[in-house]
Amino acid sequence: MRAVRFAETGPSSVLHVDDDVLEPHAGPGRIRIAVAAAGVNAWDRKVRSGLAGIPVPAPRIPGGDAAGVVDEVGDGVTGVSVGDEVFGIGPAGVTAQHAVLTHWAAKPGGLSFVQAAGLPTPAETAVRALDLLGVGGTDVHRGDRRETVVISGAAGGVGLTAAQLARERGAHVIGTASPARHDLLRALGITPVAYGAGLAGRVRALAPDGVDLALDAAGHGVVPELIALTGDAAHVVSIADFSAHGARTTDGGEGRSWHALAEVAALIEAGRLELPVASTFPMAEAAAAHDLSESGHAGGRVVILIG
Ligand SMILES: NC(=O)c1ccc[n+]([C@@H]2O[C@H](COP(=O)([O-])OP(=O)(O)OC[C@H]3O[C@@H](n4cnc5c(N)ncnc54)[C@H](OP(=O)(O)O)[C@@H]3O)[C@@H](O)[C@H]2O)c1
Repeated sequence: MRAVRFAETGPSSVLHVDDDVLEPHAGPGRIRIAVAAAGVNAWDRKVRSGLAGIPVPAPRIPGGDAAGVVDEVGDGVTGVSVGDEVFGIGPAGVTAQHAVLTHWAAKPGGLSFVQAAGLPTPAETAVRALDLLGVGGTDVHRGDRRETVVISGAAGGVGLTAAQLARERGAHVIGTASPARHDLLRALGITPVAYGAGLAGRVRALAPDGVDLALDAAGHGVVPELIALTGDAAHVVSIADFSAHGARTTDGGEGRSWHALAEVAALIEAGRLELPVASTFPMAEAAAAHDLSESGHAGGRVVILIG
């Protein structure tokens, strides 16, 4: 089969297309798909560059998020058949004509394979982070006003998903983004604010009654300001900054929210959530896809078309 691979860690130029890669097989509890599209995430770049610090069996296929058509069903798997359209997450490289998935959901008919390939990691991470933060829960005392939640990086893949899910849970969401993304956030019911120096003052002007909870979905050292805004490190969660600020963090090691895949896809199909795709790339341009994702300002999901 054709696959994007890298033989050693390094810059995006280590990525290349191989035409004679051995096909994987589903195995117990797993399915295999004929991949139509593969989403690019920060983790893929970290593994490729060596920054993730995990041993990389060479050559390795990058990517974890994919959408396609089931072509093998492993022993013990129920509820899915060959020919079904699904999207999900694989344990080892999905930027290939065939990939094994460990967690998946049915692709709603209203979503394209490209849209669905951009979903798994943002959906799972956003739900996991909001649940840890307790958005929409009952443990935050806020009198008779709506819960106010600040999301740093609200125009990113995870941030945009989290911001809309928090809105769906009834919160007033203030989201940081570069000015070019403010109209998008407004249209989605999120109050935009510029990130960078002076953020706390700008947020206080937008939320004079205070901020209840905050999610750091972008890093860049914003956690101390988020703690100052909420007044309590326990009311801040970061998915991108694991330095010891006292805020809670989540990397998924404590458990994943796989149910999020079907939930977020259903919200998209119902027109209640948007996760735009910024760009698609053919397999031969996988390096450009990684570069755009790495820019930190892709403006939506980055997806590689498999063919
Ligand atoms: N812990 C986990 O389980 C987990 C899972 C997935 C991802 N992550 C991490 O979460 C982060 C976001 O991932 P993603 O896929 O959502 O990335 P993404 O789509 O590339 O989004 C990056 C976001 O960062 C914002 N940003 C860029 N420069 C900034 C700055 N100086 N200050 C504040 N915000 C800035 C961007 O805003 P503009 O576009 O508006 O400039 C954009 O919203 C990454 O660090 C990733 O490694 C963690």
